[in-house]
Amino acid sequence: MKMKDGFFWGGATAANQFEGGWNRDGKGPSTSDMMTGGTHTTPRRITPVLEEGTYYPSHEAVDFYGHYKEDIAMMAEMGFKMFRMSINWSRIYPNGDDLEPNEEGLKFYDNVFAELKKYNIEPLVTISHYETPFGLTQKYNGWASREVIDFYIRYCKTLFNRYKDQVKYWLTFNEINCLTMPLGAYMAGGLLFEGKETLTDGVDQPQTRFQALHHQFVASAKAVKLGHEINPDFKIGCMVAFMTTYPNTCNPDDILLAQKKDQLSNMICGDVQVRGAYPGFAKRFFAEEGIEIQMQPEDEQTLREGCVDFYSFSYYMSLVESADASLERAEGNLLGGIKNPYLEASDWGWQIDPKGLRYTLNHLYDRYQIPLMVVENGLGAVDVIEEDGSIQDDYRIDYLKGHIEQMKEAVADGVDLIAYTMWGCIDLVSASTGEMKKRYGFIHVNKDNDGNGDLSRTPKKSFYWYKNVIASNGEEL
Ligand code: BG6
Repeated sequence: MKMKDGFFWGGATAANQFEGGWNRDGKGPSTSDMMTGGTHTTPRRITPVLEEGTYYPSHEAVDFYGHYKEDIAMMAEMGFKMFRMSINWSRIYPNGDDLEPNEEGLKFYDNVFAELKKYNIEPLVTISHYETPFGLTQKYNGWASREVIDFYIRYCKTLFNRYKDQVKYWLTFNEINCLTMPLGAYMAGGLLFEGKETLTDGVDQPQTRFQALHHQFVASAKAVKLGHEINPDFKIGCMVAFMTTYPNTCNPDDILLAQKKDQLSNMICGDVQVRGAYPGFAKRFFAEEGIEIQMQPEDEQTLREGCVDFYSFSYYMSLVESADASLERAEGNLLGGIKNPYLEASDWGWQIDPKGLRYTLNHLYDRYQIPLMVVENGLGAVDVIEEDGSIQDDYRIDYLKGHIEQMKEAVADGVDLIAYTMWGCIDLVSASTGEMKKRYGFIHVNKDNDGNGDLSRTPKKSFYWYKNVIASNGEEL
């Protein structure tokens, strides 16, 4: 079975993990630029003031800023139809609240889009992907302040006007549901709570976090409306970190708990962004937790008027929930659950579940009935360079093959899936750990966890495999 004509095969990245050039040509610091490296067991630290002698992985990342022509040529060689990238907000508005954009920053993306056009690769642009200007964190505590909505809309207006003929597909916020979890406060919301030192410590303020999420909902809805006014052909989507959640047993307590987790960490954002209103379960949760969302009288209408055109999500793994608190827990992307004995896990403990992708695609399409995109999926693994210089990443091929097979099953089930952009198509910095060692790419980048390496690019075995997948439109896996 092939995918339908025009299916967008491609890869995905984010500026803060990929681009580097963190202070070049007028760019200001972002929240990511203030995070140190870490490892699987050592959390990344947030340093409100840069420390001399400390290594900050986003500062150079893998220097797409200096390598974009070479990188895009390699994507074209694989046959990419779509490239998901983000625009680094503080490259355009260095402090976030500036009145005028930074022309040098805008020019960089002019060049990137021109290069993509050369090869007929459609850009999919994330407007905000874990890279809030740090100035907004310092002055406003990021998305805790309603004013940040206006700064975001000013930024969107600049992007939409400048690139209205170059970019058609936009995502307003990466993994917006990250703000439903304590881990997301700084990364997704630019919120820095008193006493917070690492990405994973327990310091949290749910009231502020959910208020920040509300501000992002309003900002996203306004951006959708504005984008459609500037160019009615724009397609603007939401993006959710989907953590498919199964009940551990048929005990109704397990079933209800798994449903509640699914509602509160997965469905809440899609419900607001696709259907235009908070669902009942969210209101109940807020009431029970004593969370009071401050709304302006016009917010409900804004949300209703700013519904997205398509739904996109990241999918890496699934989770299991149990009402029995004594069971052993597993790690995961943003959230962990309990161990699933039927699944294997990656070296970072994420439980690999291709069939969960088919289940999720059906789950989402049943509910929303709008086009879906899988905009992140992939395996973070340690790659070994053989003596002849090759990288035989069969484990990555197996992972992707399994997921694409299930994607095809979902399409056969009737799901309207329009894109698949595999995460980290060129090795980049891990968001959760700041490592280079956790590699996702079809293309290896010569750089290690401490920043050593000449940044040279080498195709892995999976590069040639994916090239054939695209050439056969998904028929040959
Ligand atoms: C998603 C993020 O959560 O997962 C990406 O949108 C991130 O930014 C990806 O890189 C993989 O996670 P990690 O922690 O392995 O980089």
